[in-house]
Amino acid sequence: MTGIEVSLSTPRQSPARDPVPPVPPVPPVPRITDIDYAKVNRYWGKATPSILGPYMMDDFGFPASAGDFRFREESRIVQRLTRDVKRDGTILDLGSGIGVWAENFARRFSLVTAVEGSRTLFQSLQSRCAPYHNIRPIHGDVMTFEPDARYDLVFLGGLLMYLNERDVIALLRKLDRCIKPGGMILCRESTVRGKAVALTGDYQVVYRSVSDYERIFEQCGLSVRHVERNEPYVLMEMGIELIEKWRQAVPVRFQALRTVGHLTYFGMRLGNPWIRRVPKAMSIAFPMLENHFFVLGKDAS
Ligand SMILES: C[S@@+](CC[C@H](N)C(=O)[O-])C[C@H]1O[C@@H](n2cnc3c(N)ncnc32)[C@H](O)[C@@H]1O
Repeated sequence: MTGIEVSLSTPRQSPARDPVPPVPPVPPVPRITDIDYAKVNRYWGKATPSILGPYMMDDFGFPASAGDFRFREESRIVQRLTRDVKRDGTILDLGSGIGVWAENFARRFSLVTAVEGSRTLFQSLQSRCAPYHNIRPIHGDVMTFEPDARYDLVFLGGLLMYLNERDVIALLRKLDRCIKPGGMILCRESTVRGKAVALTGDYQVVYRSVSDYERIFEQCGLSVRHVERNEPYVLMEMGIELIEKWRQAVPVRFQALRTVGHLTYFGMRLGNPWIRRVPKAMSIAFPMLENHFFVLGKDAS
């Protein structure tokens, strides 16, 4: 990974079988920092199985409707970005959390395979997806998951940031071989504007820049068809970062987090969309964390 900063902080139906070609070996990648996967697993193993948990939006006093809002707005974007995927398409959702996306895809497409590593979140995914006979939920690590079919759409919603670069490359090369002609990989990843940032505490993650991801995708022989800032994410992240500042400035006993969280959320909703334009108009790099959708296809070469 180029220039990384380290900061300390806290079966029901199977898709039609179609032989998947073998994955080529991954070239050596400089290992500047390593994510501790045991810590990632521990974190997600204890995550709250709610709409806010997998969205990293609990702990800020937000109402559950904040998670619903973000999901609803994001699903409009995802719907637009995947409008060319045919209705009888097969979908692979990796790192599916509590399964809100798997459920969304199951309503739109014919077959969804959803892979989730955390047992707690997987159980929630299983019960959410139980009414859908076109979802195949799998409990397991995406790195050891072996696709046994080809897919029209592979969705990675906030997964790559929990993988070391070498594993991101290995995973994408594996996926590249199981996309149908004309199919796509859709990633949604948290991003930073400058150098990549790794959190090395109990919550382990790497926030890469858009150009880091573009470089990695190209290295995997994937063409980047479209990059789009995830505006509903950015709106909610502005609220989160403001509340973080509040928590740093105000003693715990005066924080009234639930009230402040609710007020911040409703303030953000009322101020949307112009409030998102303020940082840019004032040339302020806020919020620190952004999020982007990347639409990837196979290289023509
Ligand atoms: C930020 S959450 C996103 C969940 C879901 N995609 C969504 O958008 O709501 C990341 C998810 O990836 C899962 N995850 C992280 N690393 C994984 C791995 N190596 N194998 C399987 N799941 C993994 C976590 O357990 C967690 O559910």
